[in-house]
Amino acid sequence: MAQDTLTITDNRTNQTYTIPIEKGAVRAMDFRKIKTDPEDFGLMTYDPAFMNTASCRSSITFIDGERGILRYRGYPIEVLAEHCSFLEVAYLLLFGELPNEAELQDWVYEITHHTMLHETTKKFMEGFRYNAHPMAMLVSTVAALSTVYPQARDIRDPKNRLLQIKRLIAKMPSIAAMSYRHSLGFPYVYPDNDLSYTENFMNMLWRIVEPKYVATPALARALDVLFILHADHEQNCSANTMRSVGSAHTDPYLTTAAAAAALAGPLHGGANEEVLKMLDEIGSMENVSAYVKRAKEGHGKLMGFGHRVYKNYDPRAKIIKRTAEQVFEVTGRNPKLDIALELERIVLDDEYFIKRKLYPNVDFYSGIIYQAMGFRPEMFTVLFAIPRTVGWLAQWQEMLNDPEQKIARPRQVWTGHEVRQFIPLAKRTTAAPLP
Ligand code: CMC
Repeated sequence: MAQDTLTITDNRTNQTYTIPIEKGAVRAMDFRKIKTDPEDFGLMTYDPAFMNTASCRSSITFIDGERGILRYRGYPIEVLAEHCSFLEVAYLLLFGELPNEAELQDWVYEITHHTMLHETTKKFMEGFRYNAHPMAMLVSTVAALSTVYPQARDIRDPKNRLLQIKRLIAKMPSIAAMSYRHSLGFPYVYPDNDLSYTENFMNMLWRIVEPKYVATPALARALDVLFILHADHEQNCSANTMRSVGSAHTDPYLTTAAAAAALAGPLHGGANEEVLKMLDEIGSMENVSAYVKRAKEGHGKLMGFGHRVYKNYDPRAKIIKRTAEQVFEVTGRNPKLDIALELERIVLDDEYFIKRKLYPNVDFYSGIIYQAMGFRPEMFTVLFAIPRTVGWLAQWQEMLNDPEQKIARPRQVWTGHEVRQFIPLAKRTTAAPLP
């Protein structure tokens, strides 16, 4: 009879150990029993970059990278993107179920009525240099909210946590819009409670002197769909940061700022900005082949391609490609699309990329849409951070409610010196050269 166990023989001692397999995983702590003698620390597993280590049990977002499947709480991303609003999906991610009409109405009301920022936050923002990167402004300002809401430190109280969750989801677009207007030197626009989440965001971004901002419905919907697609993505670099920093019981504003800082990196959410820079650098369709050749020769990566988990077409990229067409009907076609399509065509047909299973990811087409909508590339990662805040907070809640979780604290494999004899300064003859 097949058993859900793993039998290991330690060839150093000839001892055999049997450890349980649960949901396709073994517990790393079971390896600690494997020792050469009672004084031995026991075996560790070594896994830089978490290539094959589950750091938690989760029921929020499911990805099958080989088959290109993404589901939130069991619902396929394609279905949610077609039928739901972003706040409806936010409710699903946070609470595990889709809301009914009354629940959704209350939820939207609650989020809408937390969009204002304290005036001191506005002043804080004014202190940034005129050319500060909007993502750096966002990260710092989210952290600064911790000074406005000191009661957020009580992370054990679920009611208090929920209040901070609502504030964070509501205030992210307000901070994002302020960072945008700051870099343009435009006055800040206050939220308008008559508008939906994305319409209000557009209002805070783009209202000039008109008494009431009216968003183009197709663009507001496209932004809502993009927000749904970016809302969560299981244990990615920033979600892992959220869990790791949150595991120290840091307040949710500082924790979210840390997660946003992780997102800012060009290998993570910062890739969307890099894609646009890359398309600019390529310049025209004729240059695409040469650019791909350079990437294959090791001169830089193709931004917007490849993924740690997806070894197939990123399902979000498929939806974004469709959404792009709807946006271009309103805005006109972004000429970069042709370069992007040519790049995708060449890559999908190239042995180097086929062998490594490198497909377009979520960041490949999103920037082209954002640019057509009027955003500058510096804003792209900020646009990613707004919806991802929901995912971070859902992951944070799940971590705090998981009785198995403790402060995150990995082990290391020591490669340094054994204890060394100290030599007083005057007697040191050889010195390591300064790098
Ligand atoms: N262009 C060219 N070659 C690549 C690329 C790329 N974009 N991505 C991976 N490779 C190669 C890589 O050089 C390596 O080749 P070899 O086996 O010969 O050494 C192989 O493919 C495996 O790549 P890896 O770097 O070991 O894969 P990883 O899982 O550590 O990295 C990644 C995943 C997303 C960081 C990487 O694919 C990458 O840097 N892509 C470009 C940046 C990007 O688009 N990031 C957005 C990711 S999706 C959204 C998000 O996370 O926020």
